[in-house]
Amino acid sequence: MTAERSEGAGQRRVLVLGATGTIGRATVRALVSRGHAVVCLVRRPAGTAGVAGATERIVDLADPLSLARDGIRGERFDVLVSCLASRTGLPDDAWAIDYGAQVHALHAGRAAGVTQVVLLSAICVQKPSLAFQHAKLAFEAVLIASGLDYTIVRPTAFFKSLSGQIDRLKRGKPFLVFGDGTLTACKPISDDDLGRYLADCLDDRERRNRVLPIGGPGEAITPKAQGERLFALLGREPRFTHVPVRLLDVIVTVLATIGRWVPALAAKAELARIGRYYATESMLVLDPVTGRYDAQATPSTGSETLFDYYARVIRGEAAAERGDHAVF
Ligand SMILES: NC(=O)c1ccc[n+]([C@@H]2O[C@H](COP(=O)([O-])OP(=O)(O)OC[C@H]3O[C@@H](n4cnc5c(N)ncnc54)[C@H](OP(=O)(O)O)[C@@H]3O)[C@@H](O)[C@H]2O)c1
Repeated sequence: MTAERSEGAGQRRVLVLGATGTIGRATVRALVSRGHAVVCLVRRPAGTAGVAGATERIVDLADPLSLARDGIRGERFDVLVSCLASRTGLPDDAWAIDYGAQVHALHAGRAAGVTQVVLLSAICVQKPSLAFQHAKLAFEAVLIASGLDYTIVRPTAFFKSLSGQIDRLKRGKPFLVFGDGTLTACKPISDDDLGRYLADCLDDRERRNRVLPIGGPGEAITPKAQGERLFALLGREPRFTHVPVRLLDVIVTVLATIGRWVPALAAKAELARIGRYYATESMLVLDPVTGRYDAQATPSTGSETLFDYYARVIRGEAAAERGDHAVF
C-alpha cells in the first residue's frame, strides 16, 4: 500500500476493516478505483494486500484505545466499510471480532465523523444456528440501531468456498457430495463483483438503510453441477462419492460429547456444525412463508461466473484460494 490519496469532488475518506481478507482486498481495489481516500486498519503489515493507493495502519481492533490512537489518529472520516470476519468462526473468536471489534470500530468511526457504514455480512444469517451467525446478527442490530446510514450486504457463496476440491479431482479422486449432490444450491459471487457492489453502496442512495442479499450472475448451482463442470473441464467422466449427512451428525454428536471435557474437541465440534450447516442449507434467499430457499428471489450482480473461474483455475490462469470454512 502506498501514500494516502488527496480528496477531491465525490471522494470520501473511508475507513476499511478486514482489508486483508478475500473480499476486503477486492473492496479496497474498487474503492481506490472510484477515487476514495482509503485507510485500512490491519493487525499486521500487509503489503501483500498489494493495493496501491490505500494507506494501512496497524491497529489492535480489540482495543478501543489502539483504534483511536493508531487507527483514527484524530482525523475525520466519512464512511466505515467493514469486511471484517473471524478467521475461525469459533464462538469466542466470532464474538470478539464479528461483534466486539466491529462495535468498537462503529463507536470510533462515529466519533471521527463517520455518517455511513457499509457492512459485509452473510446470507446464512437469515437462518441462524451457529455462533458466528448470532455474532454477526448482533452487530447488524447494533448498526441498525446506531442512527447512522447503513447498508448491510449479505452475499451468497464466494468462489473460494466452492473450489476446495479442484486439487483432489486433478489427482484423479472423485468429487465428494452430501446426499445426491442437490441438497443445496447457491448463486456464487466473485470477489471483484462483490467488491464493486460494496463500493457502489457509498453512492447508491437506493441501498441506504437496507439489508441486501446478493448473489452472482446466472442460475443457482448445486454441488453436483459444480462437480460435473469440473470433470468436463478436466476432460474426464464424472465420478462422485456420496457422503450421508447422517455421518456429519454422528461426528458433531461425538465431538460435542467429548468436547464437554476436552476444549479442543469442542472447537472441532463447532467446525463440524459449520460444515453440516453448509452441507444442508442453500445460500439463497429464504422465503419466510414457505420456509424454502428461492433462487428467483435472490438478486444477482456482476458478470464473473463460477464456471469461467473454474476454467481459468484448470488452465492455470487463476489460483484457487482455500475457504476457511471449506467442508472438503
Ligand atoms: N466464504 C463464503 O462463501 C462467504 C459467503 C457469504 C458471506 N461470507 C462472509 O463474508 C465475510 C468476509 O469473508 P472473507 O472470506 O473475505 O474473509 P477472510 O478472507 O477470512 O478475511 C477476514 C478479514 O478479517 C480480518 N480479521 C480476522 N480476525 C481478525 C483479528 N483478530 N484482528 C484483526 N483483523 C482480523 C482478517 O485479517 P488477517 O488477514 O490479518 O487475518 C481479514 O482481513 C465473512 O463475514 C463471511 O462470513 C462468506
